[in-house]
Amino acid sequence: MNAPHPEEFLTLTEIVAAARRNVAPGPWSYLVGGAETETTVRRNRMALDALAFRPRVLRDVSRIDSSSVFLGRKTRLPVMLAPIGGLESIVEGGAASAARASAQFGVPQMLSSVCQPGLEQTAAAADNLRVFQLYVRGDDAWTDDFVRRAQDNGYKAFCFTVDVAAYSRRERDLVGRFIKPWRARAIEGAAFQAGLSWDQVKRYKDKYNGKHDLPLIIKGIATVEDAEIAVQHGVEVIYVSNHGGRQLDHGLGSTAVLPEIIKAVNGKAEVWVDGGYLRGTDVVKAMALGAKAVGIGRLACLGLGAAGVPGLVRTLELLEDEIRICLGLLGVTSYAELTPAHLAAAPITHLPDTFSAFPLLPRE
Ligand SMILES: Cc1cc2nc3c(=O)[nH]c(=O)nc-3n(C[C@H](O)[C@H](O)[C@H](O)COP(=O)(O)O)c2cc1C
Repeated sequence: MNAPHPEEFLTLTEIVAAARRNVAPGPWSYLVGGAETETTVRRNRMALDALAFRPRVLRDVSRIDSSSVFLGRKTRLPVMLAPIGGLESIVEGGAASAARASAQFGVPQMLSSVCQPGLEQTAAAADNLRVFQLYVRGDDAWTDDFVRRAQDNGYKAFCFTVDVAAYSRRERDLVGRFIKPWRARAIEGAAFQAGLSWDQVKRYKDKYNGKHDLPLIIKGIATVEDAEIAVQHGVEVIYVSNHGGRQLDHGLGSTAVLPEIIKAVNGKAEVWVDGGYLRGTDVVKAMALGAKAVGIGRLACLGLGAAGVPGLVRTLELLEDEIRICLGLLGVTSYAELTPAHLAAAPITHLPDTFSAFPLLPRE
């Protein structure tokens, strides 16, 4: 990998450009692509771009606290490394590299069950704050085995990703004939993913409630109706996500559905969100709407692709800079002071695409 000294990256734009140079064409299309027309990918950005700030002034922002709390533990930013399957195709060390960056910078990592080097070795790679995400591709005993291993290896919460009842058609991969080595295993488990229902959520809660301390996260909630059912099941975290626009095409942007879900959940569960978050201002918007954490998927991969572990650490430093500037210019010193009144609906200024958050980059 061609890795410049990370301090040389002065902007997130340069991180993206370096990742573009380093990541091979197949993994690159896997990383940036979405399902079919990629409308959901664009809507994720569109929903963020359609929010403007309403700054308050003269509020003494000489001391800003941009740290946050994640499942009761302090983190440097309200940002989590979202689960990425096949990360080993994008960066040497795969999930272990993400774990090291997560520990070095001080944000949590959600490990994907379809990422190498796997649950135990990733946990051994770094002393980080970590949670585990499962694609349910086996029976109840199979799932229970993952729960036990997650607990034994210091993961602090357990997540079912539920927006994968069918594997989507990612046209960039198909057109480029990029065959993902981990897809063979996915095909074996496809029937279990299609058959997943609230019964398995109920079973998890009945079996483990009060018996261990792994709160349940449901990732892939996109409607108020499902958020309400999750709350009825006692789910601790509702993770609003459309899989970065990689599953159902023609969905709404995550940030567009976030306010109504937060309202319906009404504090009975934490609400996390991801989808198109690439800038500090994006993270601040989610926090103003009432999210408790923001997942970064592609941005974390781009940091790793740019320069490995130091590249992701640098990405997070730049994101932190942007967040702190945004908070100061909004006239707040912490997320607790942010409210939806700091936001207003506004016309977008340009049509979004995968990299429209980085206008200085040449268009693909
Ligand atoms: C390359 C790649 C692989 C992913 N693999 C998984 C996965 O294994 N499990 C999962 O729940 N989500 C997976 N996702 C979705 C992310 O966790 C997250 O929801 C999404 O990337 C957020 O959107 P963003 O990339 O615009 O930040 C993946 C996303 C990408 C880009």
